[in-house]
Amino acid sequence: MSYSKNYDVLIIGSGGAGLTLALKLANQAIQVAVLSKFALTSSSTYYAQGGISAVFDAGDSIESHIEDTLDAGAGLCDPDIVRLTVSHGKSSIEWLLEQGVVFTEEQNPSGEVQLHLNREGGHSHRRVVHSADATGKAVSLSLIERAREHANIELLEHHSVVELITRPCAGDNLKKRVVGAYVLDTKKSLVKTMTARVVVLATGGANMAYIYSTNPHSSTGDGIALAWRAGCRVGNMEFMQFHPTCLFHPEARNFLISEALRGEGGRLVLADGSTFMEKFDPRGELAPRDIVARAIDHEMKKRGIDCVYLDISHKSEDFIREHFPTIYQQCLEFDIDITKQPIPVVPAAHYTCGGVLTDNYARTDILNLYAVGEVACTGLHGANRMASNSLLECLVFAERASEDIIKKLPNIESLTQIPDWDESKVSDSDEEVVVSHNWNELRNFMWDYVGIVRTDKRLSRAMSRVELLKNEIAEYYGNFRVTSDLLELRNLVIVAELIIRCAQHRKESRGLHYTLDYPETDNSVPPQNTILTP
Ligand code: FAD
Ligand code: SIN
Repeated sequence: MSYSKNYDVLIIGSGGAGLTLALKLANQAIQVAVLSKFALTSSSTYYAQGGISAVFDAGDSIESHIEDTLDAGAGLCDPDIVRLTVSHGKSSIEWLLEQGVVFTEEQNPSGEVQLHLNREGGHSHRRVVHSADATGKAVSLSLIERAREHANIELLEHHSVVELITRPCAGDNLKKRVVGAYVLDTKKSLVKTMTARVVVLATGGANMAYIYSTNPHSSTGDGIALAWRAGCRVGNMEFMQFHPTCLFHPEARNFLISEALRGEGGRLVLADGSTFMEKFDPRGELAPRDIVARAIDHEMKKRGIDCVYLDISHKSEDFIREHFPTIYQQCLEFDIDITKQPIPVVPAAHYTCGGVLTDNYARTDILNLYAVGEVACTGLHGANRMASNSLLECLVFAERASEDIIKKLPNIESLTQIPDWDESKVSDSDEEVVVSHNWNELRNFMWDYVGIVRTDKRLSRAMSRVELLKNEIAEYYGNFRVTSDLLELRNLVIVAELIIRCAQHRKESRGLHYTLDYPETDNSVPPQNTILTP
């Protein structure tokens, strides 16, 4: 059975980046389809806790937000992109308020109601706008509701992109343009042909490349792998961010304990109650994430312990329940009362600072292909993202992409004569175990060899395993009908390779990339981005 459909703009991903862009385009009478490989809420955006950074406090300034972002980024942020992003903080929050997002408020000393601002690591001021400790849920649900109401937006859940479709550009055979995508409807096990004048990758990060991650299952780096296979450059993949505090409990996978707890005075302690962060950074618990995660990793390895603890129990019960209702409730379900007990925590893979290289309008190397949100490498985060700058980046670059697309769309012709997906040479797999086994193997060796602390030897061990897996997966992909799990594994192995190659390329420690073989930052030359070309 064949199926094809044509859109103005095909947006792959229903997180903050994808939905913001969809709404901005749809409001200009542009027909948009938004794909999500699982349910619409299966995105990192939905699980975001701490909030969105923006300058609202009278004592704060754009310059200070820029300075903190540059400092966290360890010399690799693009200062123009940082300024562009940070200066759109306030307007981005105002746009979310217009969409119906409810943020936490407080009364100032003169009795006026204003947004309550969290404090997080690396920020020298309180500047994180939030909805208690479930900011992402508030943002996601409002944007999904607005998108559902919009006649120009078609929302397609359980649709997973298999491959982008490209063609040579007229008059320049060396350059490609995107014309659509092959998309697996996972409910119907049918690969559909979707053509579009513009395609946007808003597929999120690649943090499921690690066995311990704060992310939902959807973060398998699909957009990065799709863009790479199609011919886009990818950069800075060595800078995988490990969040210092993921709940450590045998039945709790992937539950984050927000940095906002440390912002409100939460202390990191060992089992005997002693603190340790002061040994690593004068900012203590509020040092940037790379420093805190490495400090925890160091203490765990040195002492042979399974976790450290985050203690907020010195705050009043009312304060904790009001500010952190989700974390309080979730921990209680695991018999941890955070108003009385310290929370067992470990670092876990959290955010992909690198990704598909884009310019200041979210344009990639392929004509009419854009990348917005965590999938992209815009230059904002450099070698380490500062807390709560990611949702801001999603909003600002969705706006930038919309401006460019609205301008260009009238001059982009649509190409609808595309051959159907060819399944004539494949059969149904009778060995699904190969996929689940390889998936676990990859995520384990990435954790062990390409994690918080690296060495040349560990990286080359990981690369040998990637080579083996790549061959096995290519053979499997060539013989069997595609499934969602197989597609993700095929993408994850590419992403793992890109992370390792970037890490091998960097002969120094900088930001999130720390290697025992080159423990110092190389200050003898200007800081360099790591850029890979297909
Ligand atoms: P996502 O929100 O991850 O959305 C990706 C979308 O792409 C999903 O809909 C997915 O289904 C879809 N998709 C992926 N592959 C395919 C495919 N092949 N076909 C079709 N669809 C596909 N950042 C902050 O700034 N502040 C915070 O407080 C914060 N807290 C966080 C807490 C947690 C637990 C996590 C995991 C992250 C947090 N972050 C935070 C980071 C931030 O949430 C993400 O970087 C951001 O939400 C990414 O948004 P996105 O739209 O780029 O991607
Ligand atoms: C958190 O709430 O700690 C996550 C914030 C972020 O990742 O930006």
